[in-house]
Amino acid sequence: METVWIEWINVLFRFAHVVAGIMWIGNSLLFTWMELNLTKPEKDRDPDLLGELDMLHGGGVFHLEKRILHGNAIPERLHWFKWQSYTTWLTGFVLLGALFLSNGATLLDATKTHLEPLQGAGLSLLGIFGGWLVYDLIWRSPLGKSRSAGLIVSLLLLAGACFAYGSVFNGRALFLQIGAMMGTCMSANVFFHIISNQHKFMRSLRAGQAHDLSLGKRAKSRSLHNHYMTFPVVFLMLSAHFPGLYAADWKVPILLVVILALMAVKHLMNMRYHFKGWLASIFGVLALAATLIAVFLNQTAVADTTGDPAVAAGQKVFNAMACGACHMQAAGQIAPALDGVYGSMQVLADGSTVLADDDYLRRSILEPQAQVVKGYAPSMPSFAGRLGEREMDDLLAYLRSLRGAPGGK
Ligand code: HEC
Repeated sequence: METVWIEWINVLFRFAHVVAGIMWIGNSLLFTWMELNLTKPEKDRDPDLLGELDMLHGGGVFHLEKRILHGNAIPERLHWFKWQSYTTWLTGFVLLGALFLSNGATLLDATKTHLEPLQGAGLSLLGIFGGWLVYDLIWRSPLGKSRSAGLIVSLLLLAGACFAYGSVFNGRALFLQIGAMMGTCMSANVFFHIISNQHKFMRSLRAGQAHDLSLGKRAKSRSLHNHYMTFPVVFLMLSAHFPGLYAADWKVPILLVVILALMAVKHLMNMRYHFKGWLASIFGVLALAATLIAVFLNQTAVADTTGDPAVAAGQKVFNAMACGACHMQAAGQIAPALDGVYGSMQVLADGSTVLADDDYLRRSILEPQAQVVKGYAPSMPSFAGRLGEREMDDLLAYLRSLRGAPGGK
């Protein structure tokens, strides 16, 4: 696709995606909070009243009641919450399509797989739609009747998906893929269970049947799943900014620790009204997760086979400066791949060609706007003043060591 079009889609859809996501997740967190904070009314006061709550906001007190609804007293203006979720999914899917699926090479790890770009895109779609079907089936089946059995099987399958995608996708795409799979389950839960159950419920009320609290049970369990997925999904959607984590060799275990820890944190936050040690436990979970991640990060073997300590040090600088946030192994929409750049002829935006030698690499990093690679926006920040001489030399040693990976460039 034309770079300009991709840029427009990127700007518009990303903005809409984030705003819709904030509205959706914000609603979800607020409703769970309200549910947990409802006070039960005194007995016999009003049999239809399930709970009530007072909230100070905007210069007044919101008095909120949760109550049984009767067919003859359905409020004229009854608010539903669904478009926040659908918009988040739709805009996210367009973004994924424009930025990654349109060039499947951006998903793959060229050092681990010889899959074609189209196969990469196909695998991503398979996970997104297949993941939902499998998840939904588990919770519809007898297995899903037991909460713990359903949970264990779901988490095991999720871990399996992380390892499977981790063996062919690059780190950045892996985190995004798992986030997109979980996000799709969340949106599909809203569409196929939560909203469809609300339709059923309203129909039965209008048909004069009594408010059946059990009808919302399945919808409620799906909304609980969504609730626990929010923190991990938000983290994974932001993960393009965390190259230190996704670029690690042990990225899959790191990913699993992040998902489990954030679910545990959410659980502890929900327990705070009846568990005194909730805050200390959250710090405990975070400390444990940080320790595990630190251990896993140390397992990162340096790609270098020359045994040159400068290359290893250079890779550390590359990770620390988050160069990988833009430069992935495969040439992406954002930035060119750096594998095999050293010693090659580069075509610049003005049509001239230049040999990528030490001077060129150094200049690309210190004055990126001086020689812009053809086909890319001049969006690389300058690292002048951020790298010491020693770090620069190590970084160059590392860039020189990157040989062209098959299918990389
Ligand atoms: C915000 C995104 C971004 C970050 C972060 C970034 N770059 Fe770049 N880089 C680009 C883009 C876009 C280009 C291509 C346009 C240009 O030449 O300026 C580029 C070009 C380059 C080139 C020239 C590549 C070629 O094919 O000739 C080198 C070398 C390079 N970057 C190294 C680095 C290093 C090393 C770091 C970390 C210290 C880094 N970049 C961080 C976006 C980024």
